[in-house]
Amino acid sequence: MASSTLICETQPWKDLKSHVEDIKKTHLRELLSDTDRCKSMMVDFDGITLDYSRQRATPGTMDKLYNLAETAHLKEKINRMFNGERINSTENRSVLHVALRAPRDAVMQSDGKNVVPDVWNVLDKIKDFSERVRNGSWVGATGKALTDVISVGIGGSFLGPLFVHTALQTDPEASKCATGRQLRFLANVDPIDVARNIAGLKPETTLVLVVSKTFTTAETMLNARTLRAWISKELGPSAVAKHMVAISTNLTLVEKFGIDPNNAFAFWDWVGGRYSVCSAVGVLPLSIQYGFTVVEKYSTPFEKNLPVLLGILSVWNVSFFGYPASAILPYSQALEKFAPHIQQVSMESNGKGVSIDGKPLPFETGEIDFGEPGTNGQHSFYQLIHQGRVVPCDFIGIVKSQQPVYLEGEVVNNHDELMSNFFAQPDALAYGKTPEELLKENVLQHLVPHKTFSGNRPSLSLLLPSLDAYKIGQLLAIYEHRVAVQGFIWGINSFDQWGVELGKSLATQVRKQLHASRVKGESAEGFNFSTTTMLTKYLKESFDVPANPPTILPRI
Ligand code: F6P
Repeated sequence: MASSTLICETQPWKDLKSHVEDIKKTHLRELLSDTDRCKSMMVDFDGITLDYSRQRATPGTMDKLYNLAETAHLKEKINRMFNGERINSTENRSVLHVALRAPRDAVMQSDGKNVVPDVWNVLDKIKDFSERVRNGSWVGATGKALTDVISVGIGGSFLGPLFVHTALQTDPEASKCATGRQLRFLANVDPIDVARNIAGLKPETTLVLVVSKTFTTAETMLNARTLRAWISKELGPSAVAKHMVAISTNLTLVEKFGIDPNNAFAFWDWVGGRYSVCSAVGVLPLSIQYGFTVVEKYSTPFEKNLPVLLGILSVWNVSFFGYPASAILPYSQALEKFAPHIQQVSMESNGKGVSIDGKPLPFETGEIDFGEPGTNGQHSFYQLIHQGRVVPCDFIGIVKSQQPVYLEGEVVNNHDELMSNFFAQPDALAYGKTPEELLKENVLQHLVPHKTFSGNRPSLSLLLPSLDAYKIGQLLAIYEHRVAVQGFIWGINSFDQWGVELGKSLATQVRKQLHASRVKGESAEGFNFSTTTMLTKYLKESFDVPANPPTILPRI
């Protein structure tokens, strides 16, 4: 395939377009009755089982999808990524977050330089610093140990670390290591988020991590200045050196902000924000909370097979069935922040309108990713996915709970109760329930249409043996790679995010206006009718906001 040819112009794409029409004639009920087919759609790797037999696909479909992947040069693109080539062409950067998981003796090159020693230098620095904070040899300005951490960051500088923190919180080994410590995340520029974060904490026992790849993100920098004011107000400006550290690629701006560059933890341009959880972005806050030994286990490498399967199946669902959304449904409360994290990884990476060469795409890329832990989702949006829109689902189950509960006299233990749902839901979606079945059960005629389930709704199931730091890392890697595989097949750049820029620059204009209106009483100008009206109302109804206020911090 010539590099400028769109994937939709190739023969394998066209073959799949006609093949999908055949598959549409077959109900999942029939596909699931073929045991050999089902057997061929179960894969085991490193204790994880993937069952994709409830996809609307046959072995023939899989061959065609592999053919498509080959035509898209998937293997070569993966190799180019691992070889450190500048595949993020619009930002002229290599994409080497995989190097963050590399063993110490590995060699991974970016611009002819082995980056693995740099990765390990920072990891060694994190190990040392986190141990000093944890054992009380790094103390705050008044000599007290720093038991609480607020990590300030947004997007990729927030969602991945929050996901891993939430997943580790209830792991027995990790939670023991976190005794007496708190880790919080301040992301939203909403002052309410500041109030929630500092509630109950004292500056003298708090360490603030300012996490920003660019160190220019408006929300993060205002929040960082706010917490700097919170610390300075109580302990004096010199306390900042002991109470604030930074994680960034922009060490110049870190220093300008007033953080000692010695207390900065670097990462690199070749790590995309949303792929940065295995860099200092995630490893520093989590190591302070749980200890480096626990945390390093989630940063192990992962082989490429499962992500390729997940990636091509999602291309199948999005591009050939036209399903616009995908649900991530972990049957584990510890994974409650998994879907929000993957939402950014996937939607910021693959929500694109042009090919990597800038050609408008005549097909949709990316999908709307959302999700909640089961069984909470079952009591919320599952109605829609059972009887309304078709949403391919990823069910994620765990064999051994982090926190088993057994009650004498109960039919099953609590985790088995949860997992009963994990096993039942995919079949309910696939098989559905026919009017004939309902009539046999003596359902009243007028209720039959309401109680009918069409079925034929695709899903896949991932079963993990347990949920320790290592498995959490595997899950993360599977989904990171899945997203890359999708993007490689669609022929887009999954590693830039120009779509977030327009809103940011319009906000700059509004910010200027708000300042001019508050300080000089200027009326809103230069906006369209609608925005002018809303801005005017906002300013009018908040006329009592002081123009040049002293620092006021939340008090809850
Ligand atoms: O606005 C989007 C974005 O650039 C994300 O890609 C990124 O994860 C987030 O902002 C935060 O960026 P930074 O780490 O530079 O503050």
